[in-house]
Amino acid sequence: MSKNVLVVDDDPNVVEIITESLKNKGYETDSAYDGIAAMERYDSFKPDLVVLDVALPFRDGFRVCDEIRARDVNNDVPVIMISGNSIPDRMLMGFNSGAQDFIRKPFSVKEVLAKIDNLLAQADGKKNLREQKEFLEDEIQKGQADYKRINREIKKKVLDLKTLFSLSQDLNRLRDPEELIHVFFLTVIGQLGVGTISLFCVENEGDPYLSCAGGKGLRTGILQTVRLQRETGIAKLLMKKHDVMELGRARVWGEAEREATFLHNLGFRYCYPLVMNSVLTGIVLIGGKISRQPYTRNDFEMFKSICTSAATGLENSRLYAELQSTYLSTIKVLVSTIEAKDAYTRGHTDRVARYARLIAEEMGMSKEERDTVSFGAALHDIGKLGVYENILNKPGELTEIEWEVVRSHPEVGANIIKNMKFLESACDLVRHHHERLDGKGYPDGLKGDEISIGARIVAVADSFDAMTSNRPYRMAHDYSDAISQLRRQGEKFDLDVVENLVKLIERGEIQE
Ligand SMILES: [Fe+2]
Ligand SMILES: [Fe+2]
Repeated sequence: MSKNVLVVDDDPNVVEIITESLKNKGYETDSAYDGIAAMERYDSFKPDLVVLDVALPFRDGFRVCDEIRARDVNNDVPVIMISGNSIPDRMLMGFNSGAQDFIRKPFSVKEVLAKIDNLLAQADGKKNLREQKEFLEDEIQKGQADYKRINREIKKKVLDLKTLFSLSQDLNRLRDPEELIHVFFLTVIGQLGVGTISLFCVENEGDPYLSCAGGKGLRTGILQTVRLQRETGIAKLLMKKHDVMELGRARVWGEAEREATFLHNLGFRYCYPLVMNSVLTGIVLIGGKISRQPYTRNDFEMFKSICTSAATGLENSRLYAELQSTYLSTIKVLVSTIEAKDAYTRGHTDRVARYARLIAEEMGMSKEERDTVSFGAALHDIGKLGVYENILNKPGELTEIEWEVVRSHPEVGANIIKNMKFLESACDLVRHHHERLDGKGYPDGLKGDEISIGARIVAVADSFDAMTSNRPYRMAHDYSDAISQLRRQGEKFDLDVVENLVKLIERGEIQE
């Protein structure tokens, strides 16, 4: 591509000689004869090089050179200054103004052309290098932006995975469906910034509909009356698609349309099915984001994963509840067997189990711990199955040997249930319900903290009921009498447990 050279000199002869020579060598040229015209030509001709006389009318060459530099910030356009004056100061001024070279008049055209060729080649090289540098800088910046974006995405994914992992752990740990649903809602709200969420579940196996199991961000009162059909409606569509469905835009009709419109009017925007073993167990409904931003694909992926964890958690808690009711009926059978033998203790196990459960609740124990205490208390005297009825029902004082037999019942009881997996945790309570804090109890003579809190609760509940019931050898004490006896026996009983029992009595939850 030919280069443009602007020649500026107030002497038309000089201009002509130089431009003619340049044209011969294939350059495009333009010319000016004063400082003002020089800049006008510069702006319109956009030269690649300027040959510039120092002594010009209106504006001298130094000022013109200054202006060129002000416009050409990258220093791409070389300027060769021509002067009739060879004083070194002038040359210095020229270089200071940004000129690349200096020619003294009179000059040889050959010299001028050689300098022009040379400077243009240099300028080309410099420009190339600069462009490459800019290109590389651009690439690096893009790379950095990419790197930052990828890094952000990776971080987010790791965070998502961590959240999902801890969530699925939480959901597997939680046995109480209410607590589980609560954690599920909070997770979806926290992760997606959802304003409204609700879960519809199949409450009873045979129900033909799903009903509201809870919600956040909406008056759940309205939802309590809503029923979603299990076989038709959006449930059927969700089972077919098994994906997030938009309520407002779904192309649906019939029952599904009715349900979708109704839910959309309530403020829900999307729904997703909870499925376990190819059976629909629930439908999750969510509204828009609090930020009013649309959901991203990542949001929906996260949402689906959380829902899957919740579905598994809910199924586990259902199985757990089922198992627990089987346990309970087994325990009831076992308890009725003890009571059939021991006429005096009829109702004792039931009452001890109730007191122990209430105390555990009062002490703020978790659901699982409360269950263990209930089971343990219900079975605490199961070992009496191994004690002869005549000893158990003997009205008078027991002999030393008879006492030995009676005292073996915690150990016998623990042995009876130790092989039942679901009663494993209750085993300790059965074995240690006759231990004393001072270590003088039986069968192991455990002391203080060695005795589990569950066993201490059963011990208090057991003794309290024994004191307040008629026995073959004495009449029942009244409650206040029994309480003061317990309070005086800090060497035997955990007084904190005793005080919690007192609170229950004072509130009337345990009555004479
Ligand atoms: Fe006992
Ligand atoms: Fe007992």
